[in-house]
Amino acid sequence: MRIGVLGTGTVGQAIATRLCELQHEVCMGSREAGNEKAAAWAAHHGPSSSTGTFADAAAFGAIVFNCTAGRGSVAAVTSAAPQLAGKVLIDVTNPLDHSGDTTTLFVGNDDSLAESIQRAVPEANVVKTLNTVNNAVMVDPSLVPGDHVMFVSGDDEGAKATATLLLEQFGWPPERVVDLGDLTAARAQEAYLLLWIKLMKPLGGFNFNVAIQQG
Ligand SMILES: NC(=O)c1ccc[n+]([C@@H]2O[C@H](COP(=O)([O-])OP(=O)(O)OC[C@H]3O[C@@H](n4cnc5c(N)ncnc54)[C@H](OP(=O)(O)O)[C@@H]3O)[C@@H](O)[C@H]2O)c1
Repeated sequence: MRIGVLGTGTVGQAIATRLCELQHEVCMGSREAGNEKAAAWAAHHGPSSSTGTFADAAAFGAIVFNCTAGRGSVAAVTSAAPQLAGKVLIDVTNPLDHSGDTTTLFVGNDDSLAESIQRAVPEANVVKTLNTVNNAVMVDPSLVPGDHVMFVSGDDEGAKATATLLLEQFGWPPERVVDLGDLTAARAQEAYLLLWIKLMKPLGGFNFNVAIQQG
């Protein structure tokens, strides 16, 4: 399948690399064509990889991942709005503000970054997922033992089903994918990051996740 990845950072590279390993064709997008990080990534991944602007990557993909910096995400998807129309847009971003002593969310409570993105590209079908784990765990959940879970939310059931199939290819079995409902659930998925950040120190690493136990 042809998949677009918006973002040249650690997450974009991890997801794009895993997608190539899974025999998908991937176009990595950035603000400007000719981005050095994207070019270096593509140089290592052969003919199934390509690069371009965010709009180029969105045009290329039947499905598109948004792996851009939270502060830049609305601008990034807006620049590719016509190319995202009718497509599943899997949003893995977090609205983190590191400018103060303590990390905060720059949007939250009664809104989310995912909903802001959906408003910016109303003709795309945004699915929020993967934002609650480190990038290595996103594409290889076996790095964490046990029946830990991945959350999804979105307004379009078909888009969530498509995203869930890709999650399965990454190694997330459907029974460990928790559908939280419509995209307003992204408020909770993104707010969880405040706890995730606090867990890093006592756990001494990045590769952890939550499991649900029900009584
Ligand atoms: N690191 C993790 O393991 C992890 C886990 C879960 C979620 N996340 C989330 O995943 C996202 C990506 O994280 P990352 O660390 O890989 O990369 P990042 O450094 O947060 O973002 C890099 C990407 O954002 C684009 N970008 C930056 N500022 C922009 C702006 N003003 N307008 C448009 N685009 C802009 C960059 O474009 P250029 O390519 O043009 O430079 C680049 O493609 C973030 O939202 C992060 O919170 C990260």
